[in-house]
Order: sequence, then C-alpha cells, then structure tokens
Amino acid sequence: MKNLQIAALLSLGLLTACGGDPPAKPEAPKAEPAAAPAPAAPPPAPVAAEPVAAAAPDGAQIYGTYCVACHGADGKGNNGLGGNYADVLPGKTDEALMASIKNGKTGAIGTMPPWGGTLNDEQIKAVLGYVKTTFGPKG
Ligand code: HEC
Repeated sequence: MKNLQIAALLSLGLLTACGGDPPAKPEAPKAEPAAAPAPAAPPPAPVAAEPVAAAAPDGAQIYGTYCVACHGADGKGNNGLGGNYADVLPGKTDEALMASIKNGKTGAIGTMPPWGGTLNDEQIKAVLGYVKTTFGPKG
C-alpha cells in the first residue's frame, strides 16, 4: 500500500513537473506564395549605333563651291576679292583661321562673309586643310 502511494505521489510530481500545457506553438508560418519570378531584365538598351563614318567632307569640293569665287583657283585672291592665302595664312593658328572662316572676317583686304551658317565645323576643318595643303606655305 505504502509503495502505491509513493508511486502515485511520484507520478503526480512528475506530472506537475511537466505540467501545464506546452505553450501554444506559434502557428507555423503559412508558406509564402512562391515569389513571383523576377521580371525579366529589360532588354539591353540599344547600343547607339556608331554613325557610319560619313565620308569625310571633301575640302576641295567645298572650296570649289564656296570659296573659289573670291580666293581664286590659284588661291591668290582673285584680284583682290579675297585674301591671297600666301599672305594671309602664315603665322595664324588653325583655330584662328577656322574662326575667321566660321565668323567671317573684315580686314585690310575686305570682308569675308561668315560661313558658319553654311558649313559645319567638320566642313570648315576640311576646307581649311585643303587650303593649307594646296596654297599654304610649303614645308
Ligand atoms: C565674298 C568673298 C569671299 C569668299 C566667298 C570667301 N572668302 Fe575667304 N576671305 C575673303 C576676304 C576679303 C578675306 C580677307 C579679309 C581681310 O583680312 O581683309 C578672306 C580671308 C580668308 C582667310 C584668312 C583669314 C584670316 O584670319 O586672315 C581664310 C582662311 C579664308 N578667307 C578662307 C575662305 C574659305 C575656306 C572660303 C570658302 C568657304 C572663303 N574664304 C570664301 C573673301 C572671301
């Protein structure tokens, strides 16, 4: 009998020791809906196509169209209408000459109209290059 009581007490004790309901388990997180697949990467921006190198402006052609009337086929200035390149080119920088062509120039010889509205920088550079190699001081 005594043994039974002890056993009962022991089991009670054991029950109390583990007693109480286990704390409610937090509800298992609901499975997240599968993350939407990342949006496809936007298509790569179209690479700016290198402008197909437009044929370099033809300085000789530009000269024949816009300059020869005053500067002459020989670059000597067509009897004073334009400057004689042999006289006006030396000692001037390309920048200064390009500015004269672009903005025009009024000087001792006369007035050259501005070409900036007719020719772009590339064309001015091309025609100046032509003028220098064709009429400029050699060497
Ligand atoms: C309407 C006549 C006329 C035309 C057309 C003309 N020029 Fe001139 N140009 C002149 C005169 C005049 C001068 C000299 C101005 C001065 O210094 O008295 C001159 C000067 C120049 C000079 C020297 C500028 C400087 O700083 O001394 C260059 C370079 C030149 N011209 C290039 C050209 C080119 C290139 C063209 C064609 C795109 C052209 N010219 C068309 C009249 C003209």
